[in-house]
Amino acid sequence: MKVSVLLTISASASAASVGVPQNRQKAVLHRRQQLDDQLGYLTAAAPLLKEMKPSKIVNLQAKSAFPGAKRIKVYYGPFHVPGQNAPKLPKEANPMSLDPNSFAWNNWISGFPLDATYLEQSTGLELENGSIATLETGIYNHHLAYVSSKKFSPDFAQCAGQPAKKTRTPSTFAGATQEKGDAIFSTPDLKFKSGFYMGADDKIVATGELVNYANDTVSVFAVTETEYLPGKPEGFKDVVTEVFSVNQCDGGNLALRPPPGQLKYSLKSQNMTILHDGYVLGRRAHLHDGGEGLEFWVNDKLICDSKAIYGGPTGTRKSADGKVWETMSGVKECVDPVQVKKGDSVRLEAFYDLIKHPT
Ligand SMILES: *[C@@H]1O[C@H](CO)[C@@H](O)[C@H](O)[C@H]1NC(C)=O
Ligand SMILES: *[C@@H]1O[C@H](CO)[C@@H](O)[C@H](O)[C@H]1NC(C)=O
Ligand SMILES: *[C@@H]1O[C@H](CO)[C@@H](O)[C@H](O)[C@H]1NC(C)=O
Repeated sequence: MKVSVLLTISASASAASVGVPQNRQKAVLHRRQQLDDQLGYLTAAAPLLKEMKPSKIVNLQAKSAFPGAKRIKVYYGPFHVPGQNAPKLPKEANPMSLDPNSFAWNNWISGFPLDATYLEQSTGLELENGSIATLETGIYNHHLAYVSSKKFSPDFAQCAGQPAKKTRTPSTFAGATQEKGDAIFSTPDLKFKSGFYMGADDKIVATGELVNYANDTVSVFAVTETEYLPGKPEGFKDVVTEVFSVNQCDGGNLALRPPPGQLKYSLKSQNMTILHDGYVLGRRAHLHDGGEGLEFWVNDKLICDSKAIYGGPTGTRKSADGKVWETMSGVKECVDPVQVKKGDSVRLEAFYDLIKHPT
């Protein structure tokens, strides 16, 4: 039988170190495997986690023309994130945190409708007064992810000369990092018949990790606006999200480091072979400071040139001595559906300039 899988690819790559504040220096932030493993443990442990209920759900006007479409805004929190002057939490209080200065939580969450096909989601952090929580207010979003504990993403591609991995990566359906917080499981006009189906028996797991660079505690809500269709409408393709990395064929060495002595360079993935017929929908780079962009090639066609965006209101911060620095605040996203076939060749190339974006 022919498999028809629809894929949202989040191509992934990162620099070895970041130039954000004081105590973040030289941290190797990108540990894809670690986060994947963590999501695996978390989703497996879903029945043991505590429930987190939404603090509020607001009904909004649907944007899609599909019959029955509903749009809601779901709030969790407030989370009281301790500032730099607060006593450090003992490590045991945060066993799964990836950053030594962070505030983290892991729960299963109620509030999002089950047996529903999600068309898009947008997640962010809001202060108690409704303003967006930015780096200027002290808050750095290390990650915030809502993950299905019943749905797994099939491997998108196979590395040349290696057996297919048959990994079971939990499927993330909503979430945000510092640079990005939305995903469209259709096309931006919400006309393409596809969506992220969340089964009736699913248990959604939330994992969040924030850093507060301000001195005092900052209270934030995690807020998701989403649109969905009840059930699984006829003719809709199911979407999964995938993380796909430049070094995913290279075995154990997961932290990406600059080639010795080089500050401006690119990292190329090996050529890989696509394993399913389907479509690639939204796709974008995941880079850390120093990254300039990421190219995503299928056969000999560039299907996304996802360039990094620095600065702006969410990526500019002034240190105590008045020095202003810019962190990455976004990446270009590509959204036109690209049809792919089993056997197509795929590769990535990530570009870095550590002179322009010093670490
Ligand atoms: C909300 O609080 C933040 C931090 O105190 C402040 O910068 C912002 O201006 C406030 N927004 C509104 C709408 O009052
Ligand atoms: C933050 O706390 C430090 C150390 O206690 C202090 O030196 C600094 O002035 C404080 N910054 C602000 C903006 O209050
Ligand atoms: C990878 O694929 C590209 C484009 O199809 C091709 O030009 C290149 O030679 C391939 N590289 C290897 C190592 O097979």
